Amino acid sequence: MSERRQLNNVVGWLGIFLQILLLTECAVTKKRFTVKDSKDLKKFPPVQLHRQKDHVVMDNGLVKVTVSVPGGTVAGIEYNGIPNLLETRNKETNRGYWDVVWKFPGHSAFVEELEGTSFDVITDEESGVELSFTITYDDSINSPQLPLNIDKRFILLRGHNGFYTYAIFERLEGWPALDVSQTRAVFKLEEKLFQYMAISDKRQRIMPTLEDRERGETLAYPEAVLLTNPANHSLKVEVDDKYQYSSDVKDTRVHGWICTNPPTGFWMIIPSNEFRIGGPMKQELTSQAGATTISSFHTNHYAGEDMRQQFRDGEPWKKVYGPVFVYLNSVPESGDPDSLWEDAKQQMLQETENWPYDFPRSEDYLSADQRGSVSGRLLVRDTGKNQDLKNGSLAYVGLALPGNAGSWQMENKGYQFWTQADNNGNFSIENVLPGNQGLYAWVPGYIGDYRYDSCIIISPGTRITLDNVIYEPPRNGPTLWEIGIPDRTAIEFFVPDPSPRFTNPLYLAYEKFRQYGLWDRYSEIYPDHDLVFTVGDSNYETDWFYAQVNRNIGNHTYVPTTWQIVFDLQNIDVSATYTLQIALASSTGAALQVRINDPNARIPIFNKGLIGKDNAIARHGIHGLYRLYSIEVWGSQLVQGRNSIFLTQSRNSFPWEGIMYDYIRLEGPPQDN
Ligand SMILES: *[C@@H]1O[C@H](CO)[C@@H](O)[C@H](O)[C@H]1NC(C)=O
Ligand SMILES: *[C@@H]1O[C@H](CO)[C@@H](O)[C@H](O)[C@H]1NC(C)=O
Ligand SMILES: *[C@@H]1O[C@H](CO)[C@@H](O)[C@H](O)[C@H]1NC(C)=O
Ligand SMILES: *[C@@H]1O[C@H](CO)[C@@H](O)[C@H](O)[C@H]1NC(C)=O
Repeated sequence: MSERRQLNNVVGWLGIFLQILLLTECAVTKKRFTVKDSKDLKKFPPVQLHRQKDHVVMDNGLVKVTVSVPGGTVAGIEYNGIPNLLETRNKETNRGYWDVVWKFPGHSAFVEELEGTSFDVITDEESGVELSFTITYDDSINSPQLPLNIDKRFILLRGHNGFYTYAIFERLEGWPALDVSQTRAVFKLEEKLFQYMAISDKRQRIMPTLEDRERGETLAYPEAVLLTNPANHSLKVEVDDKYQYSSDVKDTRVHGWICTNPPTGFWMIIPSNEFRIGGPMKQELTSQAGATTISSFHTNHYAGEDMRQQFRDGEPWKKVYGPVFVYLNSVPESGDPDSLWEDAKQQMLQETENWPYDFPRSEDYLSADQRGSVSGRLLVRDTGKNQDLKNGSLAYVGLALPGNAGSWQMENKGYQFWTQADNNGNFSIENVLPGNQGLYAWVPGYIGDYRYDSCIIISPGTRITLDNVIYEPPRNGPTLWEIGIPDRTAIEFFVPDPSPRFTNPLYLAYEKFRQYGLWDRYSEIYPDHDLVFTVGDSNYETDWFYAQVNRNIGNHTYVPTTWQIVFDLQNIDVSATYTLQIALASSTGAALQVRINDPNARIPIFNKGLIGKDNAIARHGIHGLYRLYSIEVWGSQLVQGRNSIFLTQSRNSFPWEGIMYDYIRLEGPPQDN
């Protein structure tokens, strides 16, 4: 039966929860497993399936995976002479599982582990085994029940060091309204064995244990713990917080853990981002203390509760999450455990190249010949700079459900297909699922969001080549001055060193924004007055704090702040309209007011209440969601000579409220041309 518990409203305003769901029906096709090099694979023993009373065991001679029946939770992974890579101190249901956070609209949320109620062997062949564990929604049952059908799959192939998991979630027309805020697959490894975590080339370290966290001191933002008495004393007086290990979706194709004795790696490889949400900049958790590895399919993280999937009016829906690959590797005792990370990266490239896979048996998972592609070249005409077309160099170009420009950022029910253009702006998006898609882009160095005028209709086998597509970013006049770089992050601004009391040594030399407690550093650097930036004199890399946070005046009291941009202007056209472009990289419970030349003006020229809940300040991000405001400034509001723009973030209900700017620009009046 499903295990379910009521979520406490731990951090109410965060609105952290929710997610997606489920079910499916998979017709089994008669595809055979095709293997790249079948001659090689013959060297490996055939895959065997052993049925036991409450379990089923898939064994390919390299790895043996024990799965509960009919629940479909992974109880054991035997590999490299280790009887179980998973944490045997945990209950079987708390080792390798899928879960969701969901609620009926207006009610409280459940965290629910997706335990199947029915089990099926889809294939049992020498070349591979595929298992299916299903939950079927039954509207004749009275107790609250997740209105989704779910089909959770596991695949073990011959000669493969690891196994695949994916799931098909489905709602049929007419089913009850539903909110889902989180969908993940989670693996908890044996902590005694797996102590070294690797997320990227640089983000690797010995991690604290859950017991270290329990013995530590919970900090002001309760997910963070100060390790006061860790078993490994070299971790003493460090901060541990799982959000310090989050990553943009575009950068999270492989992460996991290394055991040094015997040298063994456990890796989550995510071969495609098509089933993830919110586009390439969406941030998700990866691996974290407790030797835990997550494949996040859908969360609110760094986006806010509006990111939950909302199903209303009996909306039908179906989505395939995955497959993702749990990859295992090893070197001889005398070998170098560091090489396991390098090997895992190679395997990630291999899996990515093999995408879409040809072996999953669900007919809802489409193979390469059932997909299409779109290619073209993106050019930029930013009129204020000059009329020349510029290459849309390194643009992020993607297909997502049809919507407004930028809608992909909050899109969470469909599939998304993203690529990065080359230096010439050329792009090619392969393996797109059939259907109607919007084509979107954003270009580093330019503000705003591009959307192609018409829908792109993908059908199996189509190869669409677009002519040059031209993005005209918002601009009303020539640049008078600018602060920052339009890249949807605050990374180019000043990020302070952490307080010595709250460091994570991993981030002393790079990605300093991932440190805990930087919000309080603002008040230490600006003890008596707020930030003043003088155009021409100040340097945004050193003089523009990465986040406009509240000022800590002691006694747990935070007050709003007003930042000032000072600039000189001559030859003002009092009858013309100037434009202030403000691009935000993040906002949490903030209200932004802009005033010109009078910080106390009763009526601001711009006043936006309660923007966003992406929570990137508390969770050590350098961006959350992107927003762009184009604000009119009348020439009559400016003065000859020295002018000031006052940026007030006026809300102070908690320390983590605030704004990160991406980029600010003042444009002169439109020019005829
Ligand atoms: C303790 O952690 C440090 C790194 O912080 C590592 O070098 C050392 O090997 C660890 N000690 C043990 C016993 O794991
Ligand atoms: C870029 O795209 C254009 C037209 O879409 C094409 O003519 C050109 O060959 C492409 N260049 C490269 C380097 O792919
Ligand atoms: C833009 O792309 C063309 C080739 O299509 C190349 O010749 C040119 O150097 C590129 N311009 C820039 C500014 O990169
Ligand atoms: C701190 O705040 C509390 C409650 O707001 C107040 O009662 C107390 O007097 C304050 N202490 C100081 C030293 O200001």
